[in-house]
Amino acid sequence: MGFRPKMLMIIVTLFETFFSLSASTTNTSFDHNYYVTWGKDRILFFKHRQEIQLSLDQSSGAGFGSKSYFGSGFFQMRIKLPDKDSAGVVTAFYLNSNVGVHDELDFEFLGNRAGKPVVLQTNVFAHGLGGREQRTRLWFDPSADFHYYKLLWNQHQIVFFVDDIPIRVYKNHVVSGIVVYPHRAMQVLVSLWDGSNWATDGGRTKANWTQAPFQAHFQDFSIAGCPSNPNSPNKDCYSTKYWWNKRSYWQLNQHQMSAYENVRRRFMNYDYCTDKNRYPVPPVECIEE
Ligand SMILES: *[C@@H]1O[C@H](CO)[C@@H](O)[C@H](O)[C@H]1NC(C)=O
Ligand SMILES: *[C@@H]1O[C@H](CO)[C@@H](O)[C@H](O)[C@H]1NC(C)=O
Repeated sequence: MGFRPKMLMIIVTLFETFFSLSASTTNTSFDHNYYVTWGKDRILFFKHRQEIQLSLDQSSGAGFGSKSYFGSGFFQMRIKLPDKDSAGVVTAFYLNSNVGVHDELDFEFLGNRAGKPVVLQTNVFAHGLGGREQRTRLWFDPSADFHYYKLLWNQHQIVFFVDDIPIRVYKNHVVSGIVVYPHRAMQVLVSLWDGSNWATDGGRTKANWTQAPFQAHFQDFSIAGCPSNPNSPNKDCYSTKYWWNKRSYWQLNQHQMSAYENVRRRFMNYDYCTDKNRYPVPPVECIEE
């Protein structure tokens, strides 16, 4: 009987450890979920490896990726973009299945000349087919401070968020015989690279290398995802035991919907769905039910 309180204390401590670990989401060390994929010597760590800096110069950029692949989730990254003149510089936070006929979900920040706004481009690839670009301006300077960029992916919808504002919703349309929704296990990837040949003014405005190195910063390496494998997918990834698959995540709530409509009206400046030159017949997923 004498050691019973001690037992209790151990249990309480275990509980506290468990909950503090799961609660301190913004404090996950880089190495817990990610590894450097390329440009090792263009990378620096800060804050006990809770912040990473990627650099780009004329000879190389850099990137990192998640150790696991995922079949659903709510992915996020705190990002501060390169300041100064960043024309031609692309900062990307994306999911990619990498292998075979691939699926991909992209946040791509297209740099710009000093004083001109960075453009945020999103894209969706399903079964190898992309070409689903949307572009928006941001309502803040993304190089001045960290902001959250988030991707919700469940069986019903994919939502791109800037901080907590949905900027794009991609529904899982069921179209017979045509796969328009990503379903493969994907890896979380981040990179900083030279997109001089397309990113700014259609490639007419190039990176100004006298301004290099360009530097982007990233924080929050926590991942809320269902681990899966491209070669043998985890069939459980759409289960409602994962919070991001629960009913309240199947569509935007009223509050999100009005924020979404507002931001699209005021800031969106390109949508492939309405680009008649490119798609005389609107792609199937663009047709509203
Ligand atoms: C996060 O990490 C920093 C640096 O290691 C530490 O000072 C801080 O207390 C941590 N915050 C939380 C919420 O654990
Ligand atoms: C490139 O940057 C340098 C140094 O700031 C500046 O003098 C030059 O005008 C820039 N070039 C262009 C094409 O903007």
